[in-house]
Amino acid sequence: MRLLTFFAVFGLALAETGLDGWLRYAPLPASISWPSVPKHIVVLNTTKTSPVYTAGQELQRGIQNILGQSCHFSSGKPDESIIVGTLDAYVSTYGNISQSVDLKDEGFWLSTENNIVQIVGQNERGALYGAFEYLSMLAQANFSSVAYASNPDAPIRWVNQWDNLDGSIERGYGGASIFFSNGTIVNNLTRVAEYARLLASVGINAVVINNVNANASILSPQNIDGLGRIADTMRPYGVQVGLSLYFASPTSGVQGQANLTTFDPLDPQVITWWGNVTDQIYERVPDLAGYLVKASSEGQPGPITYNRTLAQGANLFAKALQPHGGRVLFRAFVYNQLNESDWKADRANAAVDFFKPLDGEFDENVVVQIKYGPIDFQVREPASPLFANLFHTNAAIELEVTQEYLGQQTHLVYLPPLWNTVLDFDMRIDNKTSLVRDIIAGRTFNRSLGGYAAVVNVGTNQTWLGSHLSMANCYAYGRLAWNPTEDTTKIHEDWSRLTFGLDQNVVDTITHMALESWPAYENYSGNLGIQTLTDILYTHFGPNPQSQDNNGWGQWTRADHTTMGMDRTVSNGTGYSGTYPPEVAAMYENIESTPDNLLLWFHHVNYTQKLKSGKTVIQHFYDAHYAGAETAQTFAQQWQTLAGKIDRQRFDEQLYQLRYQAGHSIVWRDAIVNFYHNISGIADESGRVGNHPHRIEAESMTLNGYIPYAVSPPETASDYYAVVTNENSTTGSVSTTLHFPSGTYDIGVNFYDMYGGISQYEMLINNKTIASWTGDSENYLGHTPSIYLDGHSARRITFADIEVKEGDILEILGIPNGIEPAPLDYIVFLQKGVLD
Ligand SMILES: *[C@@H]1O[C@H](CO)[C@@H](O)[C@H](O)[C@H]1NC(C)=O
Ligand SMILES: *[C@@H]1O[C@H](CO)[C@@H](O)[C@H](O)[C@H]1NC(C)=O
Ligand SMILES: *[C@@H]1O[C@H](CO)[C@@H](O)[C@H](O)[C@H]1NC(C)=O
Ligand SMILES: *[C@@H]1O[C@H](CO)[C@@H](O)[C@H](O)[C@H]1NC(C)=O
Ligand SMILES: *[C@@H]1O[C@H](CO)[C@@H](O)[C@H](O)[C@H]1NC(C)=O
Ligand SMILES: *[C@@H]1O[C@H](CO)[C@@H](O)[C@H](O)[C@H]1NC(C)=O
Ligand SMILES: *[C@@H]1O[C@H](CO)[C@@H](O)[C@H](O)[C@H]1NC(C)=O
Ligand SMILES: *[C@@H]1O[C@H](CO)[C@@H](O)[C@H](O)[C@H]1NC(C)=O
Ligand SMILES: *[C@@H]1O[C@H](CO)[C@@H](O)[C@H](O)[C@H]1NC(C)=O
Ligand SMILES: *[C@@H]1O[C@H](CO)[C@@H](O)[C@H](O)[C@H]1NC(C)=O
Ligand SMILES: *[C@@H]1O[C@H](CO)[C@@H](O)[C@H](O)[C@H]1NC(C)=O
Ligand SMILES: *[C@@H]1O[C@H](CO)[C@@H](O)[C@H](O)[C@H]1NC(C)=O
Repeated sequence: MRLLTFFAVFGLALAETGLDGWLRYAPLPASISWPSVPKHIVVLNTTKTSPVYTAGQELQRGIQNILGQSCHFSSGKPDESIIVGTLDAYVSTYGNISQSVDLKDEGFWLSTENNIVQIVGQNERGALYGAFEYLSMLAQANFSSVAYASNPDAPIRWVNQWDNLDGSIERGYGGASIFFSNGTIVNNLTRVAEYARLLASVGINAVVINNVNANASILSPQNIDGLGRIADTMRPYGVQVGLSLYFASPTSGVQGQANLTTFDPLDPQVITWWGNVTDQIYERVPDLAGYLVKASSEGQPGPITYNRTLAQGANLFAKALQPHGGRVLFRAFVYNQLNESDWKADRANAAVDFFKPLDGEFDENVVVQIKYGPIDFQVREPASPLFANLFHTNAAIELEVTQEYLGQQTHLVYLPPLWNTVLDFDMRIDNKTSLVRDIIAGRTFNRSLGGYAAVVNVGTNQTWLGSHLSMANCYAYGRLAWNPTEDTTKIHEDWSRLTFGLDQNVVDTITHMALESWPAYENYSGNLGIQTLTDILYTHFGPNPQSQDNNGWGQWTRADHTTMGMDRTVSNGTGYSGTYPPEVAAMYENIESTPDNLLLWFHHVNYTQKLKSGKTVIQHFYDAHYAGAETAQTFAQQWQTLAGKIDRQRFDEQLYQLRYQAGHSIVWRDAIVNFYHNISGIADESGRVGNHPHRIEAESMTLNGYIPYAVSPPETASDYYAVVTNENSTTGSVSTTLHFPSGTYDIGVNFYDMYGGISQYEMLINNKTIASWTGDSENYLGHTPSIYLDGHSARRITFADIEVKEGDILEILGIPNGIEPAPLDYIVFLQKGVLD
């Protein structure tokens, strides 16, 4: 209600869905005055499919919306104009640009001097990038006079979609695929064009449209034609398409293609088969970017099936693509299941073990695509040592905008600071500065190719990723792939201004939240390099620390009653630290020189091991989890200070998610600290762990139609038990007499919100309803849902400012629905300043 009045008073802008992302071209506020901008646009290529033509149209649309000024297309008139085109076209029309301009592949020159705007691309795509840069300035009310060239740091600036042909998306949290449905390419490619526009605006030049766990039927003639339609749609934005391939496609009986009895990469029939299919694709898509291949990995077939090397597998595709100028991005994510009883077994060694011996055997148009860390998109990992072990092979880094292991877009986590720990990492090859970002750009080893790939699983959801704030990661990915030395705070400020407007308070608040978000998430998920302590066997979302161990996946913590951490030393462990160049190896080998934030990645230590901070490992775990959850409580509060300054729809949708995160960060905190408290038996020096004076356990209340339920994993319930209705059709009730001192409280209720039912709840005090809610977060949150009572479904909802008197009767009624038995864990009574 309060909000409504607020909005009525300030008469806020129309609701926005988020569909326009950072390309809203919102009108500048009337309070700003600006110098005049040319009213003529000269477009030096009028072919409708040319990115130069697109640039002209974007300029017209952007200036109309941002400044309210109409621009006309003109020709030949260099005064008082915006001129956009390639360098060749510019020079042949107007002669040389007055300044000397150093343009590299896909770069642009932007000059706004003397009321002539020159936007000159090294190629057509570069011209479009320059136009978006100019529009970004205008949209941020930046009218400064500039003249500079800007060039991308690396040629590969790709996005990987993990979309399946049936329309689902692996690790996708923003709805169904915009590309596929029911086994084929969708008819309506409007969203595909809008996506290409967003990507082009931050310099992305290719999208691999299907999942790396690929399906052979993408190669049917019908789907090749659909691929052609997608390419035609994206081409005006300078975005090329690429395909993920299933290695065993030749034996998969792809409709319309020959069916072989082998997929051996050295078999002449197989070579001919891929050559033929590749020719068919290029006939429809002459500018295909290339292929992405996941082979001999996680059960996928590959060259190793035939005792061939990974290089032989990669080169099979490289040779088919070479005549067409295409590239193979070959994933280094190859590892085997391991036995934890072997102290020296280590999945982190796999990439170097598999790829280092093959250095120099990959064709020139192969790029090995290496995840930023040696395991898999964890909250903190050391830079993959493979970057420092390939001297004669092109390399690209694989990042993830999609927040698998990182809160799945329902937790705010601004990722660029994490990426920078790897991009800026100095490998000290030959004891000389060798930053990862220089290696992948090809500078360190003088490679012709290299760069960036990121998994960006946008979907049909109008927010694209399932959350408004997570779009900052997508924007920043493009900006960093273009220039990895850009300041990630400034990038976020630009994104905020473009997305939510110029109000400095809005920009500062959202950026402040973003900068606090990754450290907070690391604090309440997994610390000291132990990895994200999520459920690696199920949804990769909520807490489940024991799922890391006692299986073959090799994401082990080796936690026992006295010790934890992976011994990756050469002297007594897996030898992983020795896969880095000598100076880095020496740093990680020695416990004294290993940074605290990676201690447990490299060393197996006692819980009582002292950190450089002076704290013990276990006390650090406790303190970090309490600190992280406390920070997460502030995000919704900070966001709420922006009420009235952000349109209602986006404000409300994001507020829901931040409130959810506040509750779920407490679920995380309690699960992790309880787990390590139990296993170590070491008390929290501050007395918080296992001590919850403000809670009432549901199982301790008077139950009517409810029964206790032992939750698994146990630490994802307060005191290990929840209650569920004993039938899934009738209303249950829990009740108790309150013994808290009379006063005003925020009342939190922890319950489980499972997928497969929408339970209803009502809370009463002395028979008077004070709150009601439903377990329907599946309709508002995009994370992988759970059908169990566990760390993924556990939630807290909070009702503020409720008057309570000592002796009051509290009752909660739960109406089960579907498979969801209206589960309740505990109720917590919080006075101001208390968090329990
Ligand atoms: C104009 O654009 C088309 C389509 O992108 C391209 O084929 C052509 O080479 C361009 N012309 C010039 C002169 O750049
Ligand atoms: C999906 O495609 C199949 C043919 O492959 C067709 O029979 C079926 O009707 C389609 N389903 C929908 C919902 O379009
Ligand atoms: C295509 O999709 C867009 C947006 O998703 C929608 O606005 C438009 O109406 C659709 N067009 C047709 C012909 O269905
Ligand atoms: C290419 O594949 C098509 C479809 O299977 C087949 O008709 C054609 O003969 C093949 N061409 C070659 C050169 O193998
Ligand atoms: C294609 O070949 C494979 C292996 O030879 C065989 O298992 C499969 O049944 C065949 N598929 C079709 C559709 O013929
Ligand atoms: C695999 O290849 C290697 C080297 O080419 C060879 O030594 C080995 O015997 C082969 N193994 C099998 C099972 O064919
Ligand atoms: C050395 O490795 C063994 C396992 O092989 C382990 O039990 C022991 O704790 C390690 N010693 C040290 C000092 O880390
Ligand atoms: C490089 O550094 C390592 C470790 O500090 C040292 O042992 C080695 O001698 C150095 N090598 C050169 C060539 O300076
Ligand atoms: C770890 O603790 C055990 C006793 O629980 C002790 O014997 C051992 O020396 C300690 N190890 C280290 C490295 O402090
Ligand atoms: C609540 O209602 C029940 C049944 O109507 C009644 O017995 C009970 O006294 C009421 N409790 C309070 C605290 O008013
Ligand atoms: C987008 O996703 C959010 C979160 O899952 C959901 O609340 C919303 O309804 C979705 N909107 C659309 C248009 O798909
Ligand atoms: C109760 O649960 C069972 C099994 O989970 C389910 O089959 C049934 O449909 C549910 N009944 C109701 C009324 O939701």
